[in-house]
Amino acid sequence: MKVGDVHYRTIWPGADGCSVDVIDQTLLPHRFQIRNLRTLDDACVAIRDMAVRGAPLIGATAAYGFWLAMQRSADDAAMVAAREAALATRPTAVNLRWALDRVYGALETLAPAERPDAALALATDIADEDAANCHDIGRHGLDLITTLHRQKGGDGPVNILTHCNAGWLATVDWGTATSPIYQAHDAGIPLHVWVDETRPRNQGAGLTAWELAGHGVPHTVIVDNAGGHLMQQGKVDLCLVGTDRTTRGGDVCNKIGTYLKALAARDNGVPFYVCLPGSTIDWTLVEGGDIPIEERDPGEVTMVSGADERGALTRVRVMPPQSPAANPAFDVTPARLVSGYITERGVVAAGREALEGAFPDLAAG
Ligand code: MRU
Repeated sequence: MKVGDVHYRTIWPGADGCSVDVIDQTLLPHRFQIRNLRTLDDACVAIRDMAVRGAPLIGATAAYGFWLAMQRSADDAAMVAAREAALATRPTAVNLRWALDRVYGALETLAPAERPDAALALATDIADEDAANCHDIGRHGLDLITTLHRQKGGDGPVNILTHCNAGWLATVDWGTATSPIYQAHDAGIPLHVWVDETRPRNQGAGLTAWELAGHGVPHTVIVDNAGGHLMQQGKVDLCLVGTDRTTRGGDVCNKIGTYLKALAARDNGVPFYVCLPGSTIDWTLVEGGDIPIEERDPGEVTMVSGADERGALTRVRVMPPQSPAANPAFDVTPARLVSGYITERGVVAAGREALEGAFPDLAAG
């Protein structure tokens, strides 16, 4: 997607041929700054501190990080250590394990001298495939939005609610939940997006809104608790969200608060679709309750980050210093509350049977 007039992906090999560049998402929407990663440790810190985030981008960053590790040492012990270090960064998004298994599995069969080049080729494939898959998710989601637009019979824009940032910043390009939005907007379908701010880190207010503004998509940021009210008022035609891990059984783990949106959508007859590439399905789990939920620093709840009126980045406390806070980062929406999954292979009905039918090759392991 474009920033100004320049097309960016979220991750690419550095100009020196031995490092990796990413967009530092901790500074957005206030500053657009590239961060250079020179070591696997740099990549792990970037994932853990959420300079890069979003399930598909976490996977791609781990793959490029593996390349950085292999440039320093590519023996078997270095392979094991690199996999373990990357896996320990964030527990919930399954694309991390998926990407590491893919790279590790392919390099294992090679001589150490061949591993660095092979790791770069694999990381490039993972990034290219993610961009292509997200583009295809958008194509299939566009059909859905086109149908909704027709059903509205010209009665105003299609109003879409989204949670967190499942945008191009969370992937290599296009985004998952935003790809249908960008493609529908580009096709001339009138749209308006309700953007959940997504406390505590405000990925909606800071990242999704920044993306939509950059692409000229009409949108309004709302507090996380406004979605149910807007649905009751008939002001939401469709919910589109991403996912960090969807089980074989179809349960959807995504940013904390997604479940409440799904409940409100069901109560109000609003279609609730989850946009995901096959790499986000965990075929080893059936029940959403078995997904590890990341507990993040309570400081993300007690303090809010932003820019002051002079544009200086700052953090302010929003509660008494003696009050404890808890910070579960994800929740699980059961498959029964999901209308369907928008995937690179088309729109798939919710639940195990349809998922296995759409991805028989992946489901077989
Ligand atoms: O904690 P984050 O910001 O990494 O969480 C991201 C999300 O929950 C996204 O919705 C999800 O990764 C899907 S991204 C295409």
